Amino acid sequence: MKNAKLKIGLIAVTSLGMMWGSASSFAAPEKRCTAGGQKVVCPTVTEEEAKKASAAFLKEGDDMEQGKGGSTYGIAPFDYLTGVGKRSNSDTKTFKTDSGYGGETKGGLKTELWDRVKAPSSDGVTDKSVYDQWTNNWSPKFGATLVAGADPNHGKTYYYSYCIACHGWLMHGDGPSASELNPRPRTLTRGDYMNKKTNLELFAVIKGGGEQVSLSSSMPNWGNVLQDQDIWNVIAFIRAMQDVPPPTSVEAYLNPKSTFKPIKGDVDALNASKSAEFKDIQETIESEMTGRAPGTELVGGGYVSGGNRLDASAVPLKVKN
Ligand code: HEC
Repeated sequence: MKNAKLKIGLIAVTSLGMMWGSASSFAAPEKRCTAGGQKVVCPTVTEEEAKKASAAFLKEGDDMEQGKGGSTYGIAPFDYLTGVGKRSNSDTKTFKTDSGYGGETKGGLKTELWDRVKAPSSDGVTDKSVYDQWTNNWSPKFGATLVAGADPNHGKTYYYSYCIACHGWLMHGDGPSASELNPRPRTLTRGDYMNKKTNLELFAVIKGGGEQVSLSSSMPNWGNVLQDQDIWNVIAFIRAMQDVPPPTSVEAYLNPKSTFKPIKGDVDALNASKSAEFKDIQETIESEMTGRAPGTELVGGGYVSGGNRLDASAVPLKVKN
């Protein structure tokens, strides 16, 4: 039962409980997806792989609760649930808390998270810095971007919060819930497919959801959760991960090498607001969003301050060629 609890907990966190009631059940026709204008078979993992990933996820959760080693991707120490390095020593057999975090660490088992934040509550450490550690310590850091005005380092944090339940920790389409979805979530690292998709197309499906681009509503719309700059940042993260294989070492995990090359004439975070096509798509998506009062101005395309985001023009990263 512990497993079931864990899984539900993660799903609530990662997808805000959105769309769970409406997971679509229609069968996927052969060539439903388009890449570069061609109809192609949608890139997903097989049903078997999705089931295996689900089982691995449950085992990982169980192992984590019991303080055992072992990891989904064969990297030890690595924690599938948090991406945080997991350290153990064999003096103590079990954690003292349900979650596995914040348990007794005296000679016992602990995670990297709590290794790095010493005594979080007594140390005046804020939730935000814990969150930053959570998402930044044991994950790739990018010194350049493949989308002008968009920061993959910020996109990564949103991806980890909202997308992994379905698309998987490493974007391979094998999140813990992938096996329960039909059609299955996209493998987002298949360069033969994704590198032909324009930023405009990715922006539309992420902001407006699957239905916006004639795909399944199992892909939720994120326009009411993520602001435009967040979406751009997530796109930059996706672009930075093309054809990145399951890592065989922590080093490989931290330094993904992408095959994506910016597409000539495509919109990016810096120039999108000047594109008529982008404006059109924004208008369509936003007219269907719950947050927009009838008759009000189009708010998309612009920058709204607050949260973990930078104005596109202030993103410090250079575009990699
Ligand atoms: C509830 C599960 C779920 C969550 C959460 C989810 N997705 Fe998806 N996503 C899907 C499914 C299912 C599809 C495939 C839809 C289809 O084939 O009709 C998909 C497809 C996609 C596609 C591919 C569209 C195309 O043109 O092929 C992108 C890009 C994408 N998702 C990005 C994201 C991002 C970014 C997030 C997080 C902000 C996210 N998804 C969260 C289920 C999900």
